[in-house]
Amino acid sequence: MAEGDSNNTNGSVDREITEGNVQNVTPWTATTGSEATFDYQRLIKQFGTTPVDEELIKKYERITGKKAHHLIRRNVFFSHRSLDDILDLYEKKQPFYLYTGRGPSSESMHLGHLIPFMFTKHLQDIFDVPLVIQLTDDEKFLWRDLTLEEAHHMAIENAKEIISIGFDINKTFIFTDLNYIAQSREFLSNVLKIQKCVNLNQAKKVFGFEDTDNIGKVGYPAVQAATAFSNSFPFIFGGRPDISCLIPCAIDQDPFFRVTRDVAPRLGYQKPSTFYSSFFPGLEGPGSKMSASIPTSSIFLSDSPKTIKDKINKHAFSGGKDTIEEHRKLGGDTTVDISYQYLTFFLEDDEALAKIKKDYESGELLTGYLKKELISILQKIIKDIQDRKATITDEVVQEFMKPRPLNFKFMSTNINYTHTMTEVLFPSVKWCQKLHFIALSVYVSEFIPDNINITKLYIQFSGTGIGAAGRNKYAFEIHFFKDIETERMRMFTYENYIEFRIPKAEVESWPRLTLKPEKLHWLQTDWSRATFEDSDPENDPENSEASMRDEQDDQLKKLMSDLYKDKENEIDEMKENLEQNTTKTYLICFNSLLWCMFSYIFVVTLRMLFVYQSEAGLHLYSSVISTLMIAEGIQFMEIIHVLLGWSKGDLTSTVFQNVGRWIILFIVVIPHESAHSLPAFTMVCFCWSAIEVIRFPYYILQLLNLDVEMMTWLRYTAWIPLYPTGMLSEMLTILFTLPEIHKEGKFDLPLPNNFNISFNMSLALQYYAIIVTLIFGPYMLYHMYKQSYKKLGLNKKKGKEKEN
Ligand code: TYM
Repeated sequence: MAEGDSNNTNGSVDREITEGNVQNVTPWTATTGSEATFDYQRLIKQFGTTPVDEELIKKYERITGKKAHHLIRRNVFFSHRSLDDILDLYEKKQPFYLYTGRGPSSESMHLGHLIPFMFTKHLQDIFDVPLVIQLTDDEKFLWRDLTLEEAHHMAIENAKEIISIGFDINKTFIFTDLNYIAQSREFLSNVLKIQKCVNLNQAKKVFGFEDTDNIGKVGYPAVQAATAFSNSFPFIFGGRPDISCLIPCAIDQDPFFRVTRDVAPRLGYQKPSTFYSSFFPGLEGPGSKMSASIPTSSIFLSDSPKTIKDKINKHAFSGGKDTIEEHRKLGGDTTVDISYQYLTFFLEDDEALAKIKKDYESGELLTGYLKKELISILQKIIKDIQDRKATITDEVVQEFMKPRPLNFKFMSTNINYTHTMTEVLFPSVKWCQKLHFIALSVYVSEFIPDNINITKLYIQFSGTGIGAAGRNKYAFEIHFFKDIETERMRMFTYENYIEFRIPKAEVESWPRLTLKPEKLHWLQTDWSRATFEDSDPENDPENSEASMRDEQDDQLKKLMSDLYKDKENEIDEMKENLEQNTTKTYLICFNSLLWCMFSYIFVVTLRMLFVYQSEAGLHLYSSVISTLMIAEGIQFMEIIHVLLGWSKGDLTSTVFQNVGRWIILFIVVIPHESAHSLPAFTMVCFCWSAIEVIRFPYYILQLLNLDVEMMTWLRYTAWIPLYPTGMLSEMLTILFTLPEIHKEGKFDLPLPNNFNISFNMSLALQYYAIIVTLIFGPYMLYHMYKQSYKKLGLNKKKGKEKEN
């Protein structure tokens, strides 16, 4: 189950077990983490699959009438997804099919790969249903350092080994993606439909794709999923989309089928069922790394008897003790002994296995005996496969790979004979009724009848024509709900279908068409014929054409309504885009305007400081105050933007910042002359404008989706000196203006007054200064620190991780 490096093209195996602390199983990696073996119970929980329990095994045995396979009994096939549904179908003699596969990354498969195929062969024998085997040369081309030709060649070689396991050619279709996708519109259609249902985010979550992965990998899972839908194989299932499928494989493939089951209902398909095995361990031990780059870790189906013997004797991890005496005394450990573990997969006889276990654990048997047993079993299994493989020519492989009907036995509930797909398919049939008669439309064109037989009880129909599955033989038989009149029956042939007008023996409404209430997959009620006239067909032989026109009208109406809906969606989308673009444009203008204003203030402040130095304050106020008033007034909109969700800013800090500035500007500075020339206020102007000269262009770049590193750095570092200095200057401005505020009492509310409340602005400002120093200020600084950590700190960390 381990995997070698991607360059290996000779005998590689396909699972990678890497060292690490956390168990990780994906279709391309299997990691035990820090544990010695896989924790399958944890995997069941993690993947959300269902364990195979005693009850299910009993049901399996009851329904199949056979003892469960030793791989089920020994819990090797330990987990599943809705296996019960398949058993129910089998019990009701309803159709389903088997599907499994192989990613051909090596010329020969290893024993781990053999397990699901051996088990699938057993299921095919038991259930007698069709089997589809997918060889994913496309997958291995995308994941490995292989050319398409190499991957395809390996697929053909693997197919020979798979065929040698003993699959029945009449019931098995094998295909390589490279060939079949190019041939089958139905398969490709399903691939595309699935791809449309899964977004990149979901694919990344399920499969762990990374940004550096080639895009082919992202699209591939849909190819593996499409095989689980029956209408991907019209030549087998006659275009039916509703035939369930059971997928036996190891649990590593679950991510593919999790996605398949997710999309199935959205496409109107059946969810596939799965049956999962645990991993076949490498020779070095239950949790050892089995890799082709360590050829001694695995046994391949191409290995000679001698190689098998040598590998097991030299490399199979032993659960025995260091010395014979110690072993005889303490016994061996079967939980780690690889020969014993392998015997659980390949020795079918329960009693023999139990005896080996007992004797080995008691110390009676030595590891050498277990190895000898295993060697002879494996040599035989592998030799049988090799002997059969020698007879499998390219032509035999081509036969298995030819799209063709398979022997597919299932009981149609209404037709009392076993229908064999190699002979005929069901056509699509629609029906509708009026009191006098029923109309039956059979969707085949260019029809050459073999037999159309209508009695008062039933209709039998068979012949060759073009239907859902292309040119083929089509046939069906319906036993009517009540008697019909055969003499007045009419048949009309149209371009795509044949219509039968069948008068009822009695004028009445039928609850259904068929005698028995069962649902026939190929028969549907023709709802589009709602306008169908209720008249006697004998008097109105043209009625059928009228109803066809009605049908066309209905279809046209439906088309128009679909088109209308599409247009509506398009318009909604355009409106949304327009709204987004308008908001963006507005925000860019808003930020640009404020940027210009604060740039002006910044330049003037710098100039004053440069020209007048300590006396800058005397000249600054008159030059900047109008611009500052307007700018701070407009800045109120920033709060509205956050409330409307137009900008992502933090509401609390936006409110603190703006309200704080308005207090300084409109309550402290403007109404009090002594504040105008304060150096502290000059510093306020410098800090405010410096912050905004950086902040607004940063916002504009963000709106334009431009990431200028320099600007981000400035935005998230300049606050470190500017915010504390700004706050300190604001507090000093308040402090130095307090005497005038107190004296003038412009905002005071002295007693007595109507409300009987007094208010003293100078006192309020002192409290405010304390609150800013203790709460608002630290909050703002913490907020900025968090932002900067997110933008700069984390980014830096990420960069480092990547470099490493
Ligand atoms: P691949 O080639 O990796 O494996 C082929 C089959 O062998 C199973 N498997 C194992 N089973 C037991 N023990 C092991 N050590 C071990 N290693 C591999 C796999 O689970 C698989 O059943 N993407 C697939 C090809 C594929 C497929 C499918 C497989 C396409 N459609 C449907 C299963 C079912 C792959 O690369 O398999």
